Amino acid sequence: MSIRNLDDLLAEGVSGRRVLVRADLNVPLDKETGSITDDGRIRAVLPTLTALRDAGAAVVVCSHLGRPKGAPDPKYSLAPVAARLGELLGADVAFATDTVGEAARKAVEGLGDGQVALLENLRFNPGETSKDEAERGAFADQLAAFAEAYVDDAFGAVHRKHASVYDVPARLPHFAGRLVLREVEVLARLRHEPDRPYVVVLGGSKVSDKLAVIEALLPTVDKLLIGGGMCFTFLRAQGHEVGKSLLEEEMVETCRELLARGEGRIVLPVDVVAATEFSADAAHDTVPVNAIPADRLGLDIGPRTVAEFAEAVGTARTVFWNGPMGVFELAPFAAGTRGVAEAITTVKGFTVVGGGDSAAAVRALGLDESSFGHISTGGGASLEYLEGKALPGIVALEQ
Ligand code: 3PG
Ligand code: MG
Repeated sequence: MSIRNLDDLLAEGVSGRRVLVRADLNVPLDKETGSITDDGRIRAVLPTLTALRDAGAAVVVCSHLGRPKGAPDPKYSLAPVAARLGELLGADVAFATDTVGEAARKAVEGLGDGQVALLENLRFNPGETSKDEAERGAFADQLAAFAEAYVDDAFGAVHRKHASVYDVPARLPHFAGRLVLREVEVLARLRHEPDRPYVVVLGGSKVSDKLAVIEALLPTVDKLLIGGGMCFTFLRAQGHEVGKSLLEEEMVETCRELLARGEGRIVLPVDVVAATEFSADAAHDTVPVNAIPADRLGLDIGPRTVAEFAEAVGTARTVFWNGPMGVFELAPFAAGTRGVAEAITTVKGFTVVGGGDSAAAVRALGLDESSFGHISTGGGASLEYLEGKALPGIVALEQ
């Protein structure tokens, strides 16, 4: 792999130089208060920022937050992120109230050696996500003008062909940051040479979102354990009635084919927690999968399933987990996700948690992050990597 990384840049010397760092500071915010509910992605970029500061660079950080529509939207301002970043760095972060305008120019020009500025949300500009190369290029020109070198540490966004991810590196000497480097090393090991048995645990609500990764993983995994909302379409394909549970009718045939192709390597729940409605107060019972009542919906995997999944991961030497096993945000339906996550923490082999959401679940459930081998900051990005797709942000660093 011909990617230059942060150490190569540091070896060149960065003192007195301006370095643009693309980070993924797309953190979850509380809907009511707007405060940051999980700062994992901010903490994940600190090693790169600290190394640059210590080496005397003037550091210009940029990121997206949420999906604003190419114009400023206060709901998606990075201002609270700038404050939290400053706390974590123990240093002032100059926050620019625009991305490439007057405020940004002032913030960048005012930076001394070892200081940090954060630009406002990249996606407040239509050029960031534009499909039109010229429009993206014009925005990339403006960003690139702020610095003499570019570092990509936004692993969660490397699967996006966006100006700050794909077009800026074509305009500046470019380097992978510490986080991107580590993520790619870990996922490459999973894709090319996992220690066996290799067990993958997949959850989440939709089969259609995970279809490509299931197809890509099927030839390489020893076991693929499926929970979460998407298990019901598989259970339906096995002939079970699933009541009011989440069901993608048009995917049932596909699931049937996958089960046949998997030749027993795809493992489905044997029991589920079935509730009267989608609510923490709903009446609920554990039922075997062949007895889901017609007027109930499954919101978690049951304890027998947790035990079976735990046994399967217990023998593994490599585990990759993406997606919750149930509606863990509601206390009565959190036991499945907690049980499987806890089982993964006891695995002797190498364990990887894939995804912004699964990573947030680990922290929300109060599990010890250090008991996992690696917690990825990218959901979509890690899945697309394991699918074998070329990721625009990585391709751009290779060129
Ligand atoms: C994510 O949260 O998955 C990344 O930050 C990418 O965000 P996006 O899906 O809006 O491009
Ligand atoms: Mg996402």
